[in-house]
Amino acid sequence: MSTRVVLLAAGKGTRMRSKLPKLLHPLGGRAMVLHALGAAAEAAADGPPLLVVGHGAEALRAAVGDGAEFVEQAEQLGTGHALLQAKPALQGKADLVLVSNADLPLLSGDTLKQLLAAQQANPGPFTMLTLRQPNARGFGRVKRGAGGEVLAIIEEAEATPEELAIDELNVGAYCFRGDWLWPALEKLKPSANKGEYYLTDLLEIATAAGERVEAVVLQDPHEAIGVNTREHLAEAEAALRGRINRRWMLEGVTLVDPASTYIEAGVTIGQDTVIWPNTILQGQTAIGADCSIGPNTVVRDSRIGDACRVEAAVVEMAVLENQVDIGPFAHLRKGSHLGDGVHMGNFGEVKNSTLGPGAKMGHFSYIGDATIGANVNIGAGTITANYDGEKKNETVIEDDVFIGSDTMLVAPLHIGKGARTGAGAVVTKDVPAHTVVVGVPARAVRKLEEPD
Ligand code: UD1
Ligand code: CA
Repeated sequence: MSTRVVLLAAGKGTRMRSKLPKLLHPLGGRAMVLHALGAAAEAAADGPPLLVVGHGAEALRAAVGDGAEFVEQAEQLGTGHALLQAKPALQGKADLVLVSNADLPLLSGDTLKQLLAAQQANPGPFTMLTLRQPNARGFGRVKRGAGGEVLAIIEEAEATPEELAIDELNVGAYCFRGDWLWPALEKLKPSANKGEYYLTDLLEIATAAGERVEAVVLQDPHEAIGVNTREHLAEAEAALRGRINRRWMLEGVTLVDPASTYIEAGVTIGQDTVIWPNTILQGQTAIGADCSIGPNTVVRDSRIGDACRVEAAVVEMAVLENQVDIGPFAHLRKGSHLGDGVHMGNFGEVKNSTLGPGAKMGHFSYIGDATIGANVNIGAGTITANYDGEKKNETVIEDDVFIGSDTMLVAPLHIGKGARTGAGAVVTKDVPAHTVVVGVPARAVRKLEEPD
């Protein structure tokens, strides 16, 4: 049986009170809609998920790209009307239609598959997903008959006090038989209260015709967190964080304080790495084994090798090879590449630069647009003056150079292998290998003996 998924994403998301369309709000570093699309793609492979868009359609299309087939709902007349817009694309083409609200970002592919399997075994028109929970959070209530059969979904705005007390909720995911769905949708009437066409009224259409609808009861309440407000968004974020953190602990990573550890979905971490409190790992970040990361550290879109130590640092779009030791208070910016065994101490900043294996910059330095060789020592307070007010200029420092404290390296500049600069030197001209320069501006004072 062929199956397609439809995600409803056209709503205004008024309760978020945001300029940004609701489904583009990030969760775990990724737009909510992408979470829903990921689960949809896991559940059904007979074609891409269909995304019903309306409010903020252009932005959604841009964010999703070719991750979905788009269906336009020009006017937001309710969830039933939203689904109806997929009829031309799917009628006669999908035996089963899995439908989910796109604002359920934690709903898993496994749960959607369970719903699908239940409907495959159900001769009736559809199967819905419910949750038993006293805290209703605005969800529709599920009314069951004396025999336990599901009878109706009552929207909160239209429920009587007795109905409000029902603790079984409509999660917002359904699997329909295609041949039943499309004609049934045409029968929906606008709701008394809001004048919207409610998808949920399909249940009464089915039961009125004497057809039996099945329900799958969801066990993990986190999966059913529907995001309507920013408070819900924070709840979903906390639940997702818990899920990700548990996964890494199971993989052999120590999280000293999971409650203050924020790991986005795209991050990977090696075994026996220890993550200290207040650490945020974002984007496409890969961290190796046996590292110590944090406390008070942000790593974004970076690659960190094995056995590194990163303390109280901000690392962005950078690469650290193995046994690199940075911080506290170090800032690596885009294009920083620290070779094996590099040590970068407090108050250092590196941008678009390579530090060769074993290079040391212990204190208060800025290195920008530089290529620095192996075993170079960068004295306290050294600065590459890389910007002349018009353009960025490069500094090249070859292996085994010793840069004295408080040296100004005025780029463009080339310092030959094994050279030395005196404390406070302002180096404006290239320095030959094995030469000592001192002063302002720096001049050569002697040649060093070259090691064999
Ligand atoms: C809906 C259900 C409710 C369920 C809850 C749980 C209906 C009528 N109610 O309520 O029973 O408990 O979800 O998730 O279905 N959308 C459109 N076009 C529209 C309106 C909405 O595409 O015209 C989309 C929204 O973008 C959203 C989804 O449908 O992703 C659900 O809409 P929302 O307004 O959030 O419905 P709820 O009030 O949460
Ligand atoms: Ca909702």
